[in-house]
Amino acid sequence: MITTSYNYNLTAHNTFAMKVKCSCFMEYTNPEDIPFMLSTIRKDVDWFHIGGGSNLLFTSDFSGVIFHSAIKGKEIISETEDTILIKVGAGEVMDELIEWACDYGYWGLENLSGIPGEVGASAVQNVGAYGIEAGDVITKVYAFDTINREFISIEKKDCQFGYRTSLFKQPDEKGRYVIHAVEYLLSKVSAPKIEYPALAARFSGMNTENITPHIVRNEIISIRNSKLPNPQEVPSAGSFFKNPIISDIQFQNIVEIIGSTQFPHYKVEDGYKIPAAWLIDTCGWKGVRKGNAEVWKLQPLVIINPDKIATPQEIINLENDIINSVADKFGIILSPEVEHI
Ligand code: EPU
Repeated sequence: MITTSYNYNLTAHNTFAMKVKCSCFMEYTNPEDIPFMLSTIRKDVDWFHIGGGSNLLFTSDFSGVIFHSAIKGKEIISETEDTILIKVGAGEVMDELIEWACDYGYWGLENLSGIPGEVGASAVQNVGAYGIEAGDVITKVYAFDTINREFISIEKKDCQFGYRTSLFKQPDEKGRYVIHAVEYLLSKVSAPKIEYPALAARFSGMNTENITPHIVRNEIISIRNSKLPNPQEVPSAGSFFKNPIISDIQFQNIVEIIGSTQFPHYKVEDGYKIPAAWLIDTCGWKGVRKGNAEVWKLQPLVIINPDKIATPQEIINLENDIINSVADKFGIILSPEVEHI
């Protein structure tokens, strides 16, 4: 079923609570609705598919059509003594799926607890937190290919999962595939992933045999609550910037500026990954407010809309000020993780 609304208010469809509208909003409940909806749109009209709107900044009203999947349902594809393979509708809320998996004792998604957004977007964005990424447990993505106009399934090996990216975000493929379901392989045998420093600290000394997915979930939610704004009360889009990967020369430059190597960094294949939170924090941005946009006081990677009245331009102004100040101090250009529409 397709529900079509015109001159539609998108405030409830973006967690930043930007008061923007689209000319037309189409929400659908079946995969078969996708080709039909697309066939109703004129070639010169822009369209964009949203998920939970948790990683988006609408920069103005959208003059085209916004699609939203309301495809629900979880189907067990196969099961062994140790594993379970499930196919989940793109419109399911990610955290509800995670809670369900934890209720049944299935391992694999619990570290993503509390993450906002929907199942379809989890594959596009390869959402990650606390040492895991959605792509670690995704085995297949079901989509409608808008170019060849056919339903296809894409195996994990072809999804090009990387840090906050996938095939579905590549510039030449962006918007081509409309995802309607995602398949996850979860473990029925104990498989806690608790190496992430904040988690390891909470579980130190505990016998891993006593840990359940729900125990990990509860810890993750408690860590998130201590650092991130409550999405129900404080509008934001989570991490606004990506953690940059810098060259050895840029790394040495930071060592000179700071006068030591005692700053958070992780060696990666092509250089060093530096937490953007640390760079922004060092430039003094925690809690700074400009107009109606503010840097979250506990995690400066997050820009908030504290009074729900910030305009897109106020968010962009703060974003640019942060980028410029980090560039001036460290010579590193931060890139937004949040997609600007
Ligand atoms: N740090 C500071 N000052 C701060 C906060 C952090 O210096 O105020 C430094 C600390 O050294 C800390 C390091 O930054 O050890 C990393 O911080 P954290 O462990 O909180 O992780 P992050 O790299 O800032 C990433 C994700 C988050 C995810 C957390 C936990 C990105 C862009 N962000 O943040 O994702 O929850 O790890 O895994 O990769 C999101 O995408 O919306 C999101 C919240």
